[in-house]
Amino acid sequence: MILKIVKYPDPVLSQPGEPVTEFNAELRKLADDLFDTTYASQGIGLAAPQVGVSKRVTVIDLSMGKDPKDKLVLVNPEIIFSEGKQYEEEGCLSFPDIREKVVRHAKVCIRAQDLHGKWFEMDGEELMSRCMQHEIDHLDGMLFIFRMSALKRDLNLRKIRKMQREGKW
Ligand code: NI
Repeated sequence: MILKIVKYPDPVLSQPGEPVTEFNAELRKLADDLFDTTYASQGIGLAAPQVGVSKRVTVIDLSMGKDPKDKLVLVNPEIIFSEGKQYEEEGCLSFPDIREKVVRHAKVCIRAQDLHGKWFEMDGEELMSRCMQHEIDHLDGMLFIFRMSALKRDLNLRKIRKMQREGKW
């Protein structure tokens, strides 16, 4: 089911998600809906707070639905190791039409639970690393606009306010 994506500045985006404790059908449905919603928006990842559900769940699929092996569900994820720096352009489905370069770790290792509650570790580099950091930020109530330089952030906040006035946001 395709869900409605909430846009900045909806308060749910700025609050930390609740840890998941029940690994049940409801959680599996949420993950399925997050994938459906990501694909419908041509995204590569989506976090539960972006559909108004304040839980620590996110999905990533760099293949954008082309390869089922790429479907990744992260429940209660955390970064346990990071190194290096990268500076590449990012977007966010909660900020339509905003793209900006953001500093991220080049590599990360994350620890997360799967839909059955089983813990696993996974390394990410380049785009995967960036996507993991962006989505885990969402679960902490952190948005990519606040990872930009102050100058770029103010520029983009002004752009958003203008779009809001024009009814385009
Ligand atoms: Ni995002």
